[in-house]
Amino acid sequence: MKFDLDMTDELLATTRAVRKRLDLARDVPKSVIDECLELAIQAPTGGNSQSWRWIVIDDKEKRAAIADIYRQCEQGRFSGAAAQAREAGDHQTARVYSGAGELASYLQDVPVMLIPCLQGRPDGNDSSARWASVMGSIFPAIWSFQLALRARGLGSVLTTLHLYKEQAVAELLGIPDDVMQVALLPVAYTVGTDFKRAKRDPVATITHWNGW
Ligand SMILES: Cc1cc2nc3c(=O)[nH]c(=O)nc-3n(C[C@H](O)[C@H](O)[C@H](O)COP(=O)(O)O)c2cc1C
Repeated sequence: MKFDLDMTDELLATTRAVRKRLDLARDVPKSVIDECLELAIQAPTGGNSQSWRWIVIDDKEKRAAIADIYRQCEQGRFSGAAAQAREAGDHQTARVYSGAGELASYLQDVPVMLIPCLQGRPDGNDSSARWASVMGSIFPAIWSFQLALRARGLGSVLTTLHLYKEQAVAELLGIPDDVMQVALLPVAYTVGTDFKRAKRDPVATITHWNGW
């Protein structure tokens, strides 16, 4: 198998956090979500634990209730952060926070939400090795899911804000106590499919070979 590197690199480099260009008017078929999840669960897990669980929400009332909870967590947090970033001259971060603030206002209209979960919950006394192993056993799969969406003309944004009120969402969806929610991804087709690379620090300035 020889990969088309132009295509692969483009996918890896341009899978952005999509908020403003989510197509709220277009339904997302269940089959597309299933297909992307099939790919996502090829990701690695610590000790081959595979203790992930995926909650897909397309029910209108439940989406509205989740969006309400998200807004309770938001409380102007993002617009404040946007203003701070703007003052500091960091326009990319200001744009991110302002988009994140806006998302809260239309989150209920995004056709599908995905809540990736893990069975089990580390606590504050656990070592960083345990935390890394637990959280590292879901985020690679989440990213694969996002890449698979992008390859099919859909987009998403990884959010964690609702976790401030994780329990409220757990009650709404009947999630058991020993299951930990780790994120919430609004999912939709995107308006257009051209996305660009983001600005990042040059690799040479953040990489250390053979020692710090
Ligand atoms: C761990 C994590 C938590 C995030 N939480 C939120 C969130 O609660 N709300 C939101 O709108 N975006 C959230 N984001 C999305 C980031 O803001 C976004 O990935 C970042 O600004 C970079 O944008 P890009 O991915 O398009 O380069 C989160 C991203 C990560 C990785």
